[in-house]
Amino acid sequence: MPLDAKRFLFVTGKGGVGKTTVTAAVATALAARGKRVLITMCGAHERLSAMLERQPVGHEVVSVGTNLWATRIDPERAMEEYGELVIRVRALARLVFENRYTHGFFRAAPGLHDWAMLGKAWWHTTEEIDGRPKYDVVLFDAPATGHGLDMLRVPKVILDVVPPGVLRRDAERAWELFHDPERAGVVLVSLPEELPVTESIELASALRDELALPLERVVVNALLPALFAPAERTALTSDEALFELARRGEDLDASEAALSAAIRRAAREELQSRSVERLERSLATPTTRLPFLLGTAGTPAGIRELARHF
Ligand SMILES: Nc1ncnc2c1ncn2[C@@H]1O[C@H](COP(=O)(O)OP(=O)(O)OP(=O)(O)O)[C@@H](O)[C@H]1O
Ligand SMILES: [Mg+2]
Repeated sequence: MPLDAKRFLFVTGKGGVGKTTVTAAVATALAARGKRVLITMCGAHERLSAMLERQPVGHEVVSVGTNLWATRIDPERAMEEYGELVIRVRALARLVFENRYTHGFFRAAPGLHDWAMLGKAWWHTTEEIDGRPKYDVVLFDAPATGHGLDMLRVPKVILDVVPPGVLRRDAERAWELFHDPERAGVVLVSLPEELPVTESIELASALRDELALPLERVVVNALLPALFAPAERTALTSDEALFELARRGEDLDASEAALSAAIRRAAREELQSRSVERLERSLATPTTRLPFLLGTAGTPAGIRELARHF
């Protein structure tokens, strides 16, 4: 159970693949094993609270279950808080941030906006109570844009271009944590389909080659249960005449319609199985397969069910 020892997990993947669902499931699993877990997320519209049937989560940290907390990081506010940290003096920070020229400058500074969010999430790992970390693990439900990869590039950019100071010191500490495979890792969420798998493989190599960040886990989400054995799948999908029937799709009698449905399902299962094999072959990273949940995904029962896989 290597996830248990982590201090920071960065959950990423393409839009809509199930990042928030997986974040909630991992958090629920860790919290059930006694870890104090904080979920951090970006963006104005969060779906986490609906999944857990809780009140909407704002920018304050709120309890969303036993051992489980959540907060939404608002980029503008994080920028301002971060500016205050960097500039130290609140009144001065206000002056700088409310000045329309410097405001524009800070917003336009490459990656600073992203860093404000990622840096805020990281900052929660440094919070302490009575000399102990306030949270055992912080999960970051990253935005889908650019796979969240751009965001992970930011600390390095800061280290490369920013002169020594608070901003740089924090980026150094965060970068050190993110690189440590004992304490941090990326959880990459994918779907068992051709394009998402190709993109996940690309993202994984960028993480490894460009950023040297530890890929902790690949999650293949929403797998359909296999109705057909491999031999049945092959029989149903390799016959051109049968395929023609499935393609025709209309003017079918009852048995043809049933056969057509079976062929389409077998083709989907075949594609799914090939995609997962390709993903697992290409990445030497442990994979967690999550089932497609009919109806219960996005509910507390569904999240608990998925949590069992972590
Ligand atoms: N295993 C699953 N089975 C069935 N439905 C699922 C599963 N996982 C996620 N879903 C559904 O897919 C949709 C997208 O999931 P989710 O919001 O977690 O994705 P996301 O990657 O966070 O999306 P976004 O990029 O918009 O933040 C939701 O409706 C969710 O309930
Ligand atoms: Mg999401």
